[in-house]
Amino acid sequence: VSAAKGGYKHFMHKEIFEQPRTTTDTLRGRVDLETGRIDLDGLNLSDAEMQQLDCIYAVACGTAWHACLINKYFIETLARVRVEVDYGSEFRYRNPVMNERTLLLALTQSGETVDTLAAMAEAREQGVKSVAILNAIGSQAGRLADGGAIYIHSGPEISVASTKVFTGMLMAGYLFALRLAQARGTLTSAEIREHIQALIEIPAKIDTMLKDTAVYDQLADLYHHSTDMLYLGRWVNAPIALEGALKMKEISYIHAEGYPAGEMKHGPIALIDERMPVICIATKDHVYEKMLSNVEQVMARGGKVIALINPSDKLVRSKADHVIEVPETTPLLAAVLNVIPMQLFSYAMAVRRGADVDQPRNLAKSVTVE
Ligand code: G6P
Repeated sequence: VSAAKGGYKHFMHKEIFEQPRTTTDTLRGRVDLETGRIDLDGLNLSDAEMQQLDCIYAVACGTAWHACLINKYFIETLARVRVEVDYGSEFRYRNPVMNERTLLLALTQSGETVDTLAAMAEAREQGVKSVAILNAIGSQAGRLADGGAIYIHSGPEISVASTKVFTGMLMAGYLFALRLAQARGTLTSAEIREHIQALIEIPAKIDTMLKDTAVYDQLADLYHHSTDMLYLGRWVNAPIALEGALKMKEISYIHAEGYPAGEMKHGPIALIDERMPVICIATKDHVYEKMLSNVEQVMARGGKVIALINPSDKLVRSKADHVIEVPETTPLLAAVLNVIPMQLFSYAMAVRRGADVDQPRNLAKSVTVE
């Protein structure tokens, strides 16, 4: 087992550090910077089918469900198709409205999660095609995906808490969004080339973020006795806040909640005091100023702010108790980078608390029963 961990203490640690490579593998052979072509050969949808789509149901469970939420931003922004995100466990029980212009997009690492499979079966019953974003080869979901599969090629993920698969699902979702944009003519090929350029720079940026992780140990030293934590983000980073909180809960057993920052004043603000660390995602985008006021509101109530910022940031830096720097990228792709500190922080906290990082209590790697 220790050989399989390749010198890392835990599989989760190893898998976090594999991400420069795994995100490269998701892109391999699928993008052409010269021509701006996106090639997803596992996809089984005609250009005509992609053009006439008017709704995509993105369905998954757990961390993959958070990846769906982010893919909604990618697809709606780039390809201008409406995306509804659903839990596998809810979709099949609510008689979803579907027609011949609907597509189901299932995200699943294992391809064996029973609720996600049931959603795909429900779509099939109503004559709606499914596309799957998958990691494991030879799964049930691969067989049910009559609209084709996009494999993320992240390799086996052993840690129950998902890390490299999450970033793989974002990279693959972005490719799918660009492929839809190509078919639907919502982006020019020059624009697609710019998106490809930004995408292919992601792995090296993740690599940079993994070079120095001392800050996470320092934060864990300070905050490992916390009983509650709050994660805030807006727009594409709202789901990253949810994912950060989920990761913290799963492996450190600290109660953590993720919230779209604008909703803070409708509830969670009542919980903020000097014992509450609040992770604020405040990298530069069109909602940065709004995040800045959220940071101020948390500080005014004595909360401890740990902020994710870009290196050039001055305003949030001057206010927050702690900052974690994240390289600049495009506003949408910031989601891929911003999840890395979430992974590293929850990992450091779990280790500091002596938790069983790879095998958290009560959790399974894939949930194959209802
Ligand atoms: C479990 C795992 C999660 C995973 C979820 C969905 O809850 O612990 O890490 O995100 O199942 O699994 P899937 O294989 O469908 O991605």
